[in-house]
Amino acid sequence: MSLAKMAVRWGVTHAMPRAALRRAADTGDLQARLFTESAETPTLDLTGLFDEIHARGPIIRGKYSYLVSHHSVVRDVLTSQDVRAGVDNADGVLGRLGTWSVSNHLHPVEPPSLLATEPPEHTRYRKLVTRVFTARAVENLRTRTEEIAADLLDALEQRARAGEEVDLVQAYCSLLPVTVIAEILGVPDHERHKVLTLGTAAAPSLDLGMPWRQFRDTDRALGEFDAWLGDHLAALKENPGDNLLSKLVAAREDGVGLNDKELRATAGLVLAAGFETTVNLLGNGIALLREHPEQLDKVRQDPSLWAGTVDEVLRFDPPVLLTGRTTVRDTEIAGKPVRAGSLVTTLLAGANRDPGVFDDPHTFDVTRPNAREHIAFSSGRHYCLGAALARMEGEIGLRALFDRFPDLSLRPGAAHRPTRILRGYEKLPARLT
Ligand code: HEM
Repeated sequence: MSLAKMAVRWGVTHAMPRAALRRAADTGDLQARLFTESAETPTLDLTGLFDEIHARGPIIRGKYSYLVSHHSVVRDVLTSQDVRAGVDNADGVLGRLGTWSVSNHLHPVEPPSLLATEPPEHTRYRKLVTRVFTARAVENLRTRTEEIAADLLDALEQRARAGEEVDLVQAYCSLLPVTVIAEILGVPDHERHKVLTLGTAAAPSLDLGMPWRQFRDTDRALGEFDAWLGDHLAALKENPGDNLLSKLVAAREDGVGLNDKELRATAGLVLAAGFETTVNLLGNGIALLREHPEQLDKVRQDPSLWAGTVDEVLRFDPPVLLTGRTTVRDTEIAGKPVRAGSLVTTLLAGANRDPGVFDDPHTFDVTRPNAREHIAFSSGRHYCLGAALARMEGEIGLRALFDRFPDLSLRPGAAHRPTRILRGYEKLPARLT
């Protein structure tokens, strides 16, 4: 993309909304406050703000979008046929500038990404991907995930013996999912580091209101990532391996498969969606279990609680705080009329603390019977494609770590990532013995 186009794109999609949201925040607008408070202090616990939004009713109107946080309403919106995924609805001059300046390389929330398409395209992509990404395929990855976790823990054990303090995000939480995803995508060992770097650099692409430098760096990372994926897919076509991406390259629905751009978009999304989020699940889980030692004791005494513990972590501190939809026709949400073309922000993290669904929602409880009712994986046709994989990685990753290092203690210096929609740790220093 030329620098001029890039600057226009940044202006329309980041600088202007950011300035306007900042102004609106001063007037108390709740959506704007959500944006500014999460932007300025990513470590901030937004629970108080979610409670405030919840108390104001099932649907409230912010300056730029409606906000919904009640569990049933969030679910209704996400499963509605009256909305489409994505929030890019500006019309007039801004809309035309936005269309003109759209980047010509892949972006996780621009078509043909699954996250930005709707039926019939979405149905076709999703059918092809789920044909490859079956429950059986995920189950087959279980043993491999256990081996990967064990290898990483062996390396950590050596460092622990040397008395070193380790950053668990860097040395464990990020390496476990990236290694699993790299196997799914058939990425050779020597390129994994590159995938990790590009994935991390591209992560802020979901956020609104990025500063110019971050926008430029993220755009560059997405461009490099796209080019790398093109080369990688070409290599897999020549030499298909025993991996899910090779199977996706060959998959056909009524004789039609994914074209090159669709394949890059899908592989890129699986990589990006499957990696950053799971890193956050592991990091958030480690921190929560250390902050609540009595809960950790319960899972230790009854390891059958691990699966539920992962769901409770996802409920209590979800890696994806919110998502957005645009109404495609005049409709009603929670009994209120909403015009076509309106933006609706669905607060997944808010729904997960709905007192009407979860007793005592602000308590972290690994024995909670209905923790699995959380909406951390969204709902409806865009329901997370990797939910089973993420749960499996979360369970194995957390259990293996706490089994190997029962006395693990966190040290000062933990820090959250500066991303806003994705929430998780960037650094989690620990002493392992
Ligand atoms: C804890 C880990 C994870 C969380 C919290 C998470 C969360 C989500 C959420 C909230 C969405 C839907 C967003 C929306 O409705 O707008 C989503 C979609 C998606 N996720 Fe995940 N995810 C996780 C792990 C994974 C993994 C491991 C993979 C891949 C292997 C993956 C692949 C995808 C894909 C491809 C979509 C798009 C589905 C569609 O639009 O049809 N995710 N995820």
